[in-house]
Amino acid sequence: MEFSIKQSSPENQRSACVVLGVFEGGQLSPAAHIFDQASDHQLSRLIARGDMTGKADSTMMLHTLSGVTAERVLLTGLGKPEEFNAKQFLGMLRVTFAALQKTICKDAALYAIAHGMKLTKDLGNLPGNICTPTYLAEQAEKLAQAHKLKVTVLEEKDMEKLGMHSLLSVTHGSRQPAKLITLEYRGGDKKQKPVVLVGKGLTFDSGGISLKPGAEMDEMKYDMCGAASVLGTMQAIAEMSLKLNVVAVIPSSENMPDGAASRPGDIVKSMAGLTIEILNTDAEGRLILCDALTYAARFEPDTVVDIATLTGACVIALGGVASGLFSNQDQLARDLAEAGEYSNDKAWHMPLWDEYQQQLDSNFADMQNIGGRAAGSITAACFLSRFTKDYRWAHLDIAGTAWKSGKEKGATGRPVPLLTQYLINRAAK
Ligand code: BES
Ligand code: MN
Ligand code: ZN
Repeated sequence: MEFSIKQSSPENQRSACVVLGVFEGGQLSPAAHIFDQASDHQLSRLIARGDMTGKADSTMMLHTLSGVTAERVLLTGLGKPEEFNAKQFLGMLRVTFAALQKTICKDAALYAIAHGMKLTKDLGNLPGNICTPTYLAEQAEKLAQAHKLKVTVLEEKDMEKLGMHSLLSVTHGSRQPAKLITLEYRGGDKKQKPVVLVGKGLTFDSGGISLKPGAEMDEMKYDMCGAASVLGTMQAIAEMSLKLNVVAVIPSSENMPDGAASRPGDIVKSMAGLTIEILNTDAEGRLILCDALTYAARFEPDTVVDIATLTGACVIALGGVASGLFSNQDQLARDLAEAGEYSNDKAWHMPLWDEYQQQLDSNFADMQNIGGRAAGSITAACFLSRFTKDYRWAHLDIAGTAWKSGKEKGATGRPVPLLTQYLINRAAK
């Protein structure tokens, strides 16, 4: 059984079965509300008659619903709205899954996480001339307003004061000002340490002075998909009112060639005080992420997960099937991999052994920003690991999974399902 998350509006869904939530008392989930309107309020009438109570663990299969394209609609009870939490949500998934297994449906569409994925896809697909760092900051502000999150946007002068010279070196060649965006969702206990999600927000990666080849360079508008997935996940968990504290940190800039751009051979000092020899200006993701990861420590995180379209090497290793997963703690890697498998948004645990670290040795600085062709996605993760020693950390390389190329070109919305599922599982514990 495949649970896919589809982008189209629910009433036009062609899946064999669409799953819709109904609360006890008759309140409809947002997706169910759309179906209700499309079907001339067939759902409301059914609920008013008492056919579907919305009690937790109850389900009801509908084989005909006028005005919608889905062949079947499975109504699933969400229980009392005021008691709905991650645990209820997981229970609902179990019951739904069991009900679907009794049918002949080969696939089903679920709308609990879908909204967040849509935001991620829409932002990813926007061209670089529209989706700039300033635009991303505005989207974060909108999200904050809609869901009462705390938002802050640091400007270049603020980053200068913090000593983020690695991050700033990436933006020197661009006319677009860089931004460091943070969003705080506090759904958990005041004292509970947050999970911090750090998303790479390169709104266009030309490679800089180490310019990329022209073919398919347009796809580097997708280099902000890590940031977009963090925003989508924040939206999803805020809509679920998840009982957990989660902070988003999004470093965002362009990488462009220009007289002011970084040169290969330049040396910069990161916020952590470590010096970096920039041997290739196209390895810019790690340069903005390292300062963002240092900054993340001020939220006193329980766990930090960064999400980045970081290396072409990861696409070679895992293709579009799985994201690369790296961590300084095996249990965290297992938890993330499990959430990915459960939500059909797979990630594969890759090694982060010390033996790889020496590929980053520099004669002139604490490290260089590239480690040669061998094990390219691992040495990129090794670079980040030098800035994440003080907390539990994982890194998802989504270069192969965040978008599709060719005829089907478009953002996938991954890894919003993995991240959201991981957070749901944590909140349920
Ligand atoms: N954004 C790219 C990674 C990328 C490349 C993602 C192709 C998806 C498809 C990243 O900034 C980059 O350019 N990485 C370089 C690193 C290299 C210079 C060590 C790469 O992978 O080629
Ligand atoms: Mn690059
Ligand atoms: Zn990049």
